[in-house]
Amino acid sequence: MEFGDKTEIYTSVCTVHHDARYFDRPYDFLPQRWLDPTSHDVKEASQPFSVGPRGCIGRKYVSCSISRMHCSFSAFHMMLLTVPFLG
Ligand code: HEM
Repeated sequence: MEFGDKTEIYTSVCTVHHDARYFDRPYDFLPQRWLDPTSHDVKEASQPFSVGPRGCIGRKYVSCSISRMHCSFSAFHMMLLTVPFLG
């Protein structure tokens, strides 16, 4: 199959995420797959923000927000551990 220079090609996120060629046990909810260094999943197959010139411009903002949220949770956890020392 051949495509012209200006052809835009898009795949369904849902289809890719449920393809066993990219993700082991694709129909199971396994969030730890993203953190497991021994995982053989092809994580690059997941492009939630899309790529290319029309890719999501909010990507960096969202990544930053998630990092900040994670830091907030960590801080909250530390506060809970220090409660016994407060009084
Ligand atoms: C988890 C959050 C988000 C996800 C998963 C997401 C995902 C996407 C996807 C898949 C596209 C389509 C890209 C394409 O057509 O190839 C898109 C476009 C876009 N997103 Fe997001 N997005 C998110 C958050 C945001 C935020 C927070 C903003 C703004 C602050 C934003 C602004 C935009 C804009 C303006 C476009 C259109 C870009 C264009 O057509 O040139 N997005 N986003």
